[in-house]
Amino acid sequence: MTQLKPILSHVDNIPSAGKFKPDKSSLYYIHHRLRYQTSLPKLTIWSTIFLSLIVFFFFLSPPATPAPRRGLRTTTSYGGSGWESRIKLSAKPRSGTGHTVLVTGAAGFIGAHASVALKRRGDGVVGLDNFNHYYDITLKKSRKSKLLDRAGVFVVEGDINDVVLLRKLFGLVHFTHVLHLAAQAGVRYAMVNPNSYIRSNIDGLVNLLEVVKSSIAQPAIVWASSSSVYGLNSKVSFSEKDRTDQPASLYAATKKAGEEIAHAYNHIYGLSITGLRFFTVYGPWGRPDMAYFFFTKDILNRKQISIFEGPNHGTIARDFTYIDDIVKGCLSAIDTAKKSTGNGGKKKGEAQFRIINLGNTSPVSVHKLVSILEKLLKVKAKKKVVLMPRNGDVPITHANISLARMELGRVLGEVKKTSFPRNNLAVEEYGLMYRV
Ligand SMILES: NC(=O)c1ccc[n+]([C@@H]2O[C@H](COP(=O)([O-])OP(=O)(O)OC[C@H]3O[C@@H](n4cnc5c(N)ncnc54)[C@H](O)[C@@H]3O)[C@@H](O)[C@H]2O)c1
Repeated sequence: MTQLKPILSHVDNIPSAGKFKPDKSSLYYIHHRLRYQTSLPKLTIWSTIFLSLIVFFFFLSPPATPAPRRGLRTTTSYGGSGWESRIKLSAKPRSGTGHTVLVTGAAGFIGAHASVALKRRGDGVVGLDNFNHYYDITLKKSRKSKLLDRAGVFVVEGDINDVVLLRKLFGLVHFTHVLHLAAQAGVRYAMVNPNSYIRSNIDGLVNLLEVVKSSIAQPAIVWASSSSVYGLNSKVSFSEKDRTDQPASLYAATKKAGEEIAHAYNHIYGLSITGLRFFTVYGPWGRPDMAYFFFTKDILNRKQISIFEGPNHGTIARDFTYIDDIVKGCLSAIDTAKKSTGNGGKKKGEAQFRIINLGNTSPVSVHKLVSILEKLLKVKAKKKVVLMPRNGDVPITHANISLARMELGRVLGEVKKTSFPRNNLAVEEYGLMYRV
């Protein structure tokens, strides 16, 4: 209030309209000056100069450009003919029966593994990633140089919100499938940068679907939703029929919105769409924002780690799912996806719409996770048990995968107890990245 006071007192000094009376003597003075000091020729000269200035600036000003629509940014320069031929080469399947897949988020954890697996089995793959700074970008660059480049997957550096780029790619290549993994991942970052979730998970998804629906031969879409859509649902295990209308985080809300948006595009335009709800994916080249990764770093650095527990000492557990199983699930979803029925934005018939859980169906408690890491690292962790804050995490995730077994045919190699220590690969990668 004291700071406001000088400002308010200044405002107080302005007289109200009713109180204001012009000072007759000053009006007389202005009138007098105008009458006796402004001659007619001077006025004419000044008016001419003024008018010519207006005409000059009118012709000089650039034409008005329409404000860009939110989420539909454009890029003006692409790599030229060399760039185009690399894309075409990367998109070429080994045989006539192979698919041609656009993988968005290709430099990400799951995207890199899935792209390499598709390429190795003979499909044509073009990657797309904006290499954003949500986590250490050198990890994304390393996935590109050490996994994707070596496998022969060309990654276009660009954003799914760049409509010009997407149209260019769809003009160059006839994609049979899109594996859409690009997203703002992570639950807690929404407290820092909520708009990044809207930009990538909502705007970006719509932008991609718009371009796909308008293409002459619409590809089928397989995309990443998340177990987080189950939110506050307390019934375990989570089945696709369970309620998903109580998200506990903005991330979950955007993934749920994505599922509804996907349904609308399937219904209106005949796009074949499969949404996969991944459950906590782990493995080599994993994400540094995930617990197994930063616990490893802190344990090795002899730093204290916080272990969350629920109210009344409730266990926090995750249905950790090994990356290879997720990749198998993605590939099976692509292989079992039916064709889109639309053409150039017009629906020609009903199209397939699926939502499928992809999980290990064997939750592991955070305490167990830490004890596995301790054993692998041969270091005792300094633990502090704290009540889980309400910042978007849920106490437990547990997938029911009956539908995955039925729909995706191939069994999703449930991770056996002995395979969980394969996490040591993640530890090795961790060592590689941070040189502990
Ligand atoms: N890893 C998990 O446990 C898990 C669980 C559930 C769902 N998912 C979903 O799976 C997908 C892949 O996850 P991940 O763990 O590999 O994450 P990630 O962050 O490693 O990969 C996502 C990639 O997408 C890119 N990207 C983000 N926004 C983009 C944009 N607007 N345009 C172009 N590229 C963009 C990022 O640079 C990143 O490389 C995401 O959709 C994520 O939400 C992951």
